[in-house]
Parts: sequence; structure tokens; C-alpha cells
Amino acid sequence: WSVPPALEAEIDALVARYPVKRSASLMVLHALQAHFGWLSQEAIEWTARKLGLQPIHIYELVTFYPMFRQEPCGRWQIKICRTLSCMLAGSHELHRRLCERLGLDPHRHGPQTTADGRFTVEFVECLASCHTAPVLMVNDDLWERVGPEQVESWLAHPEFAPPKPEAKS
Ligand code: FES
Repeated sequence: WSVPPALEAEIDALVARYPVKRSASLMVLHALQAHFGWLSQEAIEWTARKLGLQPIHIYELVTFYPMFRQEPCGRWQIKICRTLSCMLAGSHELHRRLCERLGLDPHRHGPQTTADGRFTVEFVECLASCHTAPVLMVNDDLWERVGPEQVESWLAHPEFAPPKPEAKS
């Protein structure tokens, strides 16, 4: 595991903006997660070394903030809001449809990733767009007033479509 030189230079510049290195912890973690998709033990230890801290100081941040991931996730991360406005507007039905369409268990708690590693689906708390419920995020994009038919049409898009089953011989 290593951090590419360009990313390390970017992180060094970021850290230099803070009078106390430790204050850059969250920004460094965001930068690493944006590059690797998740934060491995190596990433946590690297961050601690970079900032002159103990790994536990970084680990406690990674485990406290739900936006940080400690497991690999899919190319497409679909986060469905399950807080009141979205729940009343049908977010559980969206979650169920997505899971069933992608071969995931709609009753399982926590993030789930498809076997091909392309999709991670999870419930999250309020995404601060309650007036456009139900909402979800696909990676960094907010999708508003989402209906089940939209879910179907996204997944029918070739880029979203699950791989075709192999022909039986
Ligand atoms: Fe879903 Fe606030 S309740 S965005």
C-alpha cells in the first residue's frame, strides 16, 4: 500500500494550511478516501505518521464519522435517506427495489456491495434535502424526488446494468 506522489504532495499542501497538523486530520482522510474509495488500516497508520499522531487518534475519527468507510465499496455508492420525510415519501420502497434489482438483501443492515463490486447500497440519515423527499445520493450527486420508475430506468442504463449471466454450454 502506498500513496501516489501526486496525492501526497496534495496532502502536504493541505496540511501546510493548518497551524496545527492535527487540525488537518479530517481533510487528509477525505483526500485518501476520495482516492482509494475507503480507509484501510494502512491509510489510518499513514495519516497518523503524516500528522505526528498515534493511529488511535485517526481511528477514532474514522469510526466516529459515518461518511468514512472501513471497507471497500462499489464503483457506484447509492445512499438512500431513511429519515422521516424520506421514509414517509417512500425511501424504504426505493431501497427494497434497488436491493432486489441488484441481488442484495433488503433486510440486511449496513452497506452491501454487489458481487461484481460495482454497487454499494446503504441507508443513511438525513441528507438535508427533506423538502425534495425521497432523496438519495449516487456517489456525490443528489437525486431528488426519486420514484421507483427512475430507479428502474437508471439501472436499465448500460452503465448501470448488471453483467449478463454467462451462457450455459
Ligand atoms: Fe431525507 Fe432529510 S429526511 S433528506
